[in-house]
Order: sequence, then structure tokens, then C-alpha cells
Amino acid sequence: MAPTNASQARSDALVVFGATGDLASKMIYPALYQMTKKGVLDVPVVGIAGSKWTLRDLQKRATDSIESAGLAVDRTVLERLLSKLSYVGGNYNDPATFEALKKALGGTVRPAHYLAIPPSLFPTVIRGLGAAGLANNARVIVEKPFGRDLASARELNAIARSVFPEEAIFRIDHYLGKEAIMNILYFRFANSFLEPVWNRNFVSHVQLTLSEDFGVKGRGLFYESAGCLRDVVQNHLFQIVALLAMEPPAYQGYEAVHVEKANVFHAMRPLVRDDVVRGQYNGYRDEPGVAKDSDVETFCALRLFIDSWRWEGVPWYLRSGKCLAESAVEILVAFKPPPQRLFDDSRPASGLANYVRFRLQPNSAIALAARVKRAGQEFVGDQRELYLYNEHRGEETPYERLLRDAMIGKGTLFSGEDAIDAAWAVVDPVLADHRPTEIYEKGSWGPKSADALIAPYGEWHNPVVSKGAK
Ligand code: BG6
Repeated sequence: MAPTNASQARSDALVVFGATGDLASKMIYPALYQMTKKGVLDVPVVGIAGSKWTLRDLQKRATDSIESAGLAVDRTVLERLLSKLSYVGGNYNDPATFEALKKALGGTVRPAHYLAIPPSLFPTVIRGLGAAGLANNARVIVEKPFGRDLASARELNAIARSVFPEEAIFRIDHYLGKEAIMNILYFRFANSFLEPVWNRNFVSHVQLTLSEDFGVKGRGLFYESAGCLRDVVQNHLFQIVALLAMEPPAYQGYEAVHVEKANVFHAMRPLVRDDVVRGQYNGYRDEPGVAKDSDVETFCALRLFIDSWRWEGVPWYLRSGKCLAESAVEILVAFKPPPQRLFDDSRPASGLANYVRFRLQPNSAIALAARVKRAGQEFVGDQRELYLYNEHRGEETPYERLLRDAMIGKGTLFSGEDAIDAAWAVVDPVLADHRPTEIYEKGSWGPKSADALIAPYGEWHNPVVSKGAK
């Protein structure tokens, strides 16, 4: 597909707001290192944050983060990146901070400002950039979560649009930068065999699981303001649903993909109380930064309907949680059983009939489950998987891909304002109106009510990773 805005000029500097933070340390410096290594980052990088750091402190942080990312570090590349760094420390509410940034940017004229900061600071920084004249010919890359409900997302959009034109705003959802997720779009529309069955006539229901076997990892304070629904469901899981559910784009171009994805969000039925199960792992309230009586959900399961011609009546079951039994992301598109029971076991009373399974994490694979006859006189068989292992060795990390794309003005893998608003509109009713959380044990698959939610269609498919299953 032809990239959008590819002809736009490359950003000639990268500004990392939140340079001393967790995200920068875990994801961004390793990505910048890889970009430097591949020759796609060769511009000044200005780190900016509230701390009174020196350039040396920043260089040390970047080095530590790159060294602990498990990369085979090439010292020449590392030095090249470190030589491009500079640091500005200051309060984002103070115009002097932006003046100092301007000075650090020197003769560069087309900076890309990346906001790896707490969402509450997005408006301050965006306005500060505008007031200092630093938005001219610039791009802004905004981390998720983009807003915390429909009203705040609209407000943030309005602020961003008052300072930057839409084509200069890049709203990140790092799931869109993952190969296995890009492959959903490719796999669906580069093949013809799926299309005839990819609809309400053949699909009984769809399941999506994003499970993590660890807790909030010191991010208790952030989690208290977010919860699972805001943290990963409204964005990461919804993006996957959009790719699975969208109509074929009408032409070859990324704008067409954006339109079709947004249409899926528009067709989603707003959630109601009974569609959602919220859980909290036992011990969450003891995490630093978490209230002793917190009702924030660390697990969320929901039933979703897409009221479109293609998907009318097909439930989509989504679930995500921390401290679950496995770390994995899997999709299961379950097909209806054959219409007539010609063999005793060909129409399972419970359990799944044929399905397509996409394993997105920790590895990438696609499997198609079908029944095959067992050897012998009886016409009985087993459910087996045709299995396609789709590993991408040396693939780019999402942040490498997304930062590179944003810096050349390529908006393909970013979310548009319309899609974000429409996705918030779906979850908005249950952000306030929901049942209390149910406590679940660490290492389980979440609260029992989540099983009851899916019961009319059978059981959750629990991804298996630890026993080496793919
Ligand atoms: C982030 C969430 O957006 O996505 C985290 O804030 C979550 O809570 C993470 O753990 C999952 O991303 P990945 O790429 O590790 O699957």
C-alpha cells in the first residue's frame, strides 16, 4: 500500500518529553538505539523532563536502558546515539522550559515532539509548545491513553487541533506497530478463502484474550487512575477487533483502512452494565500507590456486539487481566458446527467446533481447527489444528516502527480522532455504571463471573504457553 504523506519532509529533531521516565527507559532508548543502528535516526534527540539532570545523567540512563534490553550492543552505534543527545530540565508549566527547549533545538526547523509523559500533562505540554512557537512545521506524537473518557478525549483533541494540524498529530497505540497485528489485516485481505465464511452466517462468536502473568509492576499509581478497561481494552483490544471485523478497504491506501476501522467502532453497541465483568487480583490493594479500598479493575471481561450487516448477532468476548495464569494474546474465531449431526461427535454439545486461532503473543501463529477421523471402524474423530507458524526473526519493535513512521509523517499505524472518539463512546456508559470488582487469585483465569458471561457460547479458550504450546 502506498504510504500516506510519505512525501512530507522528515523531522529534523526528536524531542522526548518524559526522558527520565519509565516508558522512555523500558522502550524508547532501545528503540532509538535500533533506529540509529539501521541509519533511520541521525538527528538531534532532546530529552526533556522535570528532573534536574545533567546530560551525563541522561546518557547514563540511555546506556543502562539499552544494555538491559538484551541487545548485542555495538559501542560505535551507542556512542553515535549518545552524541546526538541533549537534555533540558524544567517545569512544563514554565514558559522558560520551552525557551530552553528552543535553544536546545538550535537550527532545527521540523521537530517531532514525543509525549511519553502522564496523560494529565498532555494539554500543558501541547499548549506550551504552541505558545513557544515550537509547533510550527512540527509533529506531535501522543502516548496512550488518549483521554480517560469520551469528553476528555474530545477536549484533548480540541487542544491538540488548536495547536497542530490533524496530519501532524500521531496518536500512539503500540499494538498497531506489532507485526502479528499488522498481519491480521494482511491475512484477511491477501487471501480469498476467509471472506465467504467471515460473517454472521458462519461465525458463532469471537474471543480475544490479552493475559499477563504479572501485576502492575510498580505502576500502581497510574493503574489507580486507569484500570484495565482504559489501559488495554478500549485501545489495544478494540484495535484488534477493528482489524478482524472491518470491511475490505475500498481502495489501496491507508486512509481507506482508517475509515473502515472507524466504521467498526461506530457500529459497536455501547456497553451496558451486564456486558462487563470486573475483577481485581488478590494483593492488588497492597501494591505501592494503590488505595486500601480500591475498586479499580485489574481484570476485565466483556461481551460486545457490532451492529453491522456482517456481524449482526455475533457476540465478541474480550478479556484481559494482570496476574493471570499465562502471558499471551490470542484470538479465537469460532465457527458454527455443521448443520446436521451425521456423526455422533461432529456437533459438539459443548466445546468448540471449527475455529481459526491467531496467536499474537508471545509468538505469532495462525491455526485452523478441524475434525479428522480416527483410524478404525467407527466414524469418530478428533479436533486437530492445521498450524501455521509465522515467526518474524529480527522484527522491528513497535516503538522503532512507530517513531520512524511519525518522523516521516506516515500516519498508517496511528489512530485518527474519529476512531478514538467512537471507541470511547462504546465504553463510556460502563466507566461509571458498573458492578464492583470481584477478587480473583493470582495465577487463575480471573473471576468466575467471566465464565458465566461466555457460558451461552461455551467456555473461554485459555491460551497455553508455559508447556511450550504454540
Ligand atoms: C500497555 C499497558 O499499554 O500495554 C500495560 O499500559 C500493558 O499495562 C501493556 O502491560 C501490554 O503491552 P505488551 O506489548 O507488553 O503486550
